[in-house]
Amino acid sequence: MLEDSYGRRFHYLRLSITEACNFRCQYCLPDGYDGPPNSAFLQLSEIQTLITAFAQMGTSKVRITGGEPSLRRDFSDVIYHAANTPGIRRVATTTHGARLYKDAIRWADAGLDQVNVSIDSLDPNQFASITGQDKLQQILKGIDTAVGAGIKVKINTVLLQDFNANRLTRFLNWLKDTPVTLRFIELMETGDHHDFFSRQHVSGEPIRQRLINEGWQPLLRAKDAGPAQEFFHPDYAGQIGLIMPYSKDFCKSCNRLRVAANGKLHLCLFSEQGLELRPYLSQGDVEGVKQFITESLADKKVSHFLQEGHTGATKHLAMLGG
Ligand code: GTP
Ligand code: 5AD
Ligand code: SF4
Repeated sequence: MLEDSYGRRFHYLRLSITEACNFRCQYCLPDGYDGPPNSAFLQLSEIQTLITAFAQMGTSKVRITGGEPSLRRDFSDVIYHAANTPGIRRVATTTHGARLYKDAIRWADAGLDQVNVSIDSLDPNQFASITGQDKLQQILKGIDTAVGAGIKVKINTVLLQDFNANRLTRFLNWLKDTPVTLRFIELMETGDHHDFFSRQHVSGEPIRQRLINEGWQPLLRAKDAGPAQEFFHPDYAGQIGLIMPYSKDFCKSCNRLRVAANGKLHLCLFSEQGLELRPYLSQGDVEGVKQFITESLADKKVSHFLQEGHTGATKHLAMLGG
């Protein structure tokens, strides 16, 4: 089992397979962003080598991220290979959700267990102004398709002062009958977005207080869970999570490692630079990958993130898949 010098164990791999995205969420991609060409990203055989190596070191969950992972033509194959790697028990993805209505069943058949979908507003016009795409209804339809296909669905809502910070009631009403987990995420500062961050960042703490006052109860965190504190309420079909990276001790429970679409290992979302795995991946060298990761892990810091103003080299989250 992979373990760092602070005793943290890593069961969870976040693997980005592309930096491309056809949405333009204001907090994420800069306007006019046109990342590297597809040929720069890991090939399917390299992805297989990577997942095999992680699985042999105790990884049981793989989350496929981007950019927008479903833009890759071989996305179903990536899911299939991850799901059929011995040791991998759960395959998840994080997507904008625009393709779910037509592809969710195919992805479920390939082995997808969980999908996290970004929805920052339940108002179609506001959704379009945040993301640059007027696709809220299509995405909501896709969520129903995914739930029907047996995929566990979580919604990611990045808290934004001028857009959704005062719309909690609308989200709660939606959760009365919708069996998903909606997570409010505190906006994180990235290299491209200092000004946006200072205008829009709000703390999740008032929401936590309101949930507790209204009878929401905290759930225990599973060992391969993501970073959210989750809550349930007997009167609601859905659950709520809070992801508060600026809170004390957030990094203490870190259980994931990241590989970017260019094949670099990142020990943290905000680590300074990626570590080059590609020479081993292109050779199909599973043992080389394992040794490199085990040695690299000794350098994982207690926290890369919480020092004030520190964004590492992360310009935007599509670089690394969040
Ligand atoms: P689950 O496994 O379903 O809980 O997923 P997750 O919350 O880890 O994944 P998702 O891709 O939906 O990410 C939700 C938000 O959490 C995004 O804004 C991520 O950037 C953020 N996030 C995930 N892991 C970390 C982390 O290790 N550190 C920080 N600072 N943020 C993270
Ligand atoms: N801060 C917080 N969350 C972000 N995401 C993208 N950029 C940021 C940011 N700066 C979220 C997206 C998506 C997930 C992968 O990361 O909303 O749901
Ligand atoms: Fe695309 Fe996701 Fe970034 Fe939005 S948050 S622009 S959907 S990569």
